[in-house]
Amino acid sequence: MKGVILAGGTGSRMMPCTKITNKHLLPVYNKPMIYYPINTLINAGIRDILIVSGPGHAGHFLNLLGSGKDFGVKLTFEIQDEAGGIAQALGLAENFADKEPVIVILGDNIFEDDIKKDVQSFKGGAKIFLKEVHDPQRFGVAELKGNKVMGIEEKPKNPKSNWAVTGLYIYDADVFNIIKTLKPSGRGELEITDVNNYYIKKSKMEAGFLKGFWSDAGTFDSLLRASQLVKEKLEKK
Ligand code: G1P
Repeated sequence: MKGVILAGGTGSRMMPCTKITNKHLLPVYNKPMIYYPINTLINAGIRDILIVSGPGHAGHFLNLLGSGKDFGVKLTFEIQDEAGGIAQALGLAENFADKEPVIVILGDNIFEDDIKKDVQSFKGGAKIFLKEVHDPQRFGVAELKGNKVMGIEEKPKNPKSNWAVTGLYIYDADVFNIIKTLKPSGRGELEITDVNNYYIKKSKMEAGFLKGFWSDAGTFDSLLRASQLVKEKLEKK
């Protein structure tokens, strides 16, 4: 399975820090943000990774990461010209995926769980990873019946559960055809939630439930929280 890290967007919520570099290169405690999704994929056994970034400061990724040799992986880079959403960015990975399944991770998501088993046991369709949170309105939120996902709502005012859909997904190669059928949402983006709801409707979606910590790091508050979680984890070792 190949890996895709989505590190696009303009970083507008983190100005002025994102004026001179990409959001995903800002530090989360003691490492650049992008190191965490790279390590999540490496720990899951992935060695072939595509990084999709926006045009702003794209060269900084190359300066920092190079070929990927220092990580023992092969890195490929792709540019998302406009900020058209997560699903649009993923669509740019079609040639890279070359009909293989892909594991997709958002560049500003920090995970503690090891998901190697999920990668090894993936048989097709799609898999999402849920985490219980106190502020579900900020995320895609799953409606659950037992362990089964009935549907996902993107940033609902009245969430049907506290289970956030985290920025980690496994898809079979059908995902690229599904993306081609999407229409932009109210915020003008191709939504990953629409991709996931498609798989749910076809009964091809599985859900995993994360045990370790998870945080996004795309706002100043969540970045601070992510840094604190990483620091606490390192101190426990
Ligand atoms: C995106 C997804 C959302 C998901 C979140 C995880 O939100 O649209 O479903 O819960 O990432 O970080 P965004 O970062 O675009 O606001």
